[in-house]
Amino acid sequence: MKSVLEFKARKTSGVKISMVSAYTHWEARFLETSPVDCILVGDSLAVVLDGESTTFAATTEIMARHTRAVSRGAGGKLIIADFPFLAARRGVVAAVDCAAELLRAGASAVKIEGVDGHEDVLRHLTQSGVPVLGHIGLTPQSLHALGGYKVQGKGVAASADLVRQARAIETAGCFGIVVECVPPAVAREITAAVGIPTIGIGAGADCDGQVLVFHDLLGLNPGFSTRFMRRFADGGAVVTDGLAAFAKAVAKGDYPNRKESY
Ligand code: KIV
Repeated sequence: MKSVLEFKARKTSGVKISMVSAYTHWEARFLETSPVDCILVGDSLAVVLDGESTTFAATTEIMARHTRAVSRGAGGKLIIADFPFLAARRGVVAAVDCAAELLRAGASAVKIEGVDGHEDVLRHLTQSGVPVLGHIGLTPQSLHALGGYKVQGKGVAASADLVRQARAIETAGCFGIVVECVPPAVAREITAAVGIPTIGIGAGADCDGQVLVFHDLLGLNPGFSTRFMRRFADGGAVVTDGLAAFAKAVAKGDYPNRKESY
């Protein structure tokens, strides 16, 4: 998938969208030759790559650098770059500058968490030709206001509020919505309420697509697990075994052999 038009068309075709959060050139090269539809350069890179406990440390400069690395590796895929912490809250002009940085770095679209209080930013960007992906439910940039990494939308009022937010995001012209950590029935209701694709993470099977982090789905961070995560490969074991084999070969003098030497 190369464009947001193809992304939007999936709502009517019913073919589910696969999205992976990835941050580096080599992750992108693997994704480029995979059947995964699109790539999110997520601000989760602060946690996954840098070991931070929140996403707050990701800045526009950091997001642009990783977006550039990913776009060099996967130019044939739709690449969406995350707006970093509070970047949508400094007004329209600052948001335009941030979007310009991310699109110059190779993204074709940006993702912005939340909607209330920055509808004008979403509308201005989409009307300026910048495709925007919304994000509701558990929005990690609002971690402190949400009281931690908790399931959202529980109860009638909270789920109705998420449906309201989803509609506001669609009205602002966004091309899709990430729905994070909500009960499956709520994600189903949101998905039925809007005419743009929903991408779930921890939101059950009824969204129009699913997103997972590269390292999580490949088992490359073995200490981490959440209920919604599935390991599609045991990358951690492959890495551990490979490192042990290298150290053993060096210790035994088996590496390098004659063919591996000049
Ligand atoms: O930052 C990220 O990777 C994300 C996805 C997990 C949705 O926002």
